Amino acid sequence: MLDRVGGEVARATSIVRYAPGSRFSAHTHDLGEEFLVLDGLFMDGHGDYPAGTYVRNPPGSSHAPYTEEGCTIFVKLRQFDLEDQTPVRIDTRRSPFVPGAVPGLSVRPLHEFRGESVALVRWEPGTEFHPHMHMGGEEIFVLEGTFSDEHGDYPAGTWIRSPHASEHQPFSREGCLIYVKVGHLRPGV
Ligand SMILES: [Fe+2]
Ligand SMILES: [Fe+2]
Repeated sequence: MLDRVGGEVARATSIVRYAPGSRFSAHTHDLGEEFLVLDGLFMDGHGDYPAGTYVRNPPGSSHAPYTEEGCTIFVKLRQFDLEDQTPVRIDTRRSPFVPGAVPGLSVRPLHEFRGESVALVRWEPGTEFHPHMHMGGEEIFVLEGTFSDEHGDYPAGTWIRSPHASEHQPFSREGCLIYVKVGHLRPGV
């Protein structure tokens, strides 16, 4: 469990591990479900999603997940704008990255809706970004390598949530691959 707002039915961000051969009961996503497959093979009858697959199941969608070989997913529940009805399935390991804002940075955009945006960002070793402020916050999950800023070093598996109007100047000495979501932590949301 990484982040949880609410009781039994919560707005939650978690890492979920499915043992080989496990099944989850059929369910409907009232407020949407977003996940990134970290390892193994996630299946749900609509498709088979290997490690690196990014999926968005919009509000009102339903499925019955299972896995034969086991899998681990980074998942965000009940965090959709109700009008964000676009299903997304992207195999990020087979899709091109485009040049980012500074040399050494490349970006694989995943989704955008009303100021919220999600992407995978690859940092070549020695890349330095400029200082910036997060209007609407920033959330990062480090997938490979080590991501750093003036507050610390964050190896693979680190989750970072930086609130609205926080600031930093990130860099990566050894290089890294990160999941980044920005614009979704506005005051009052
Ligand atoms: Fe689900
Ligand atoms: Fe940032």
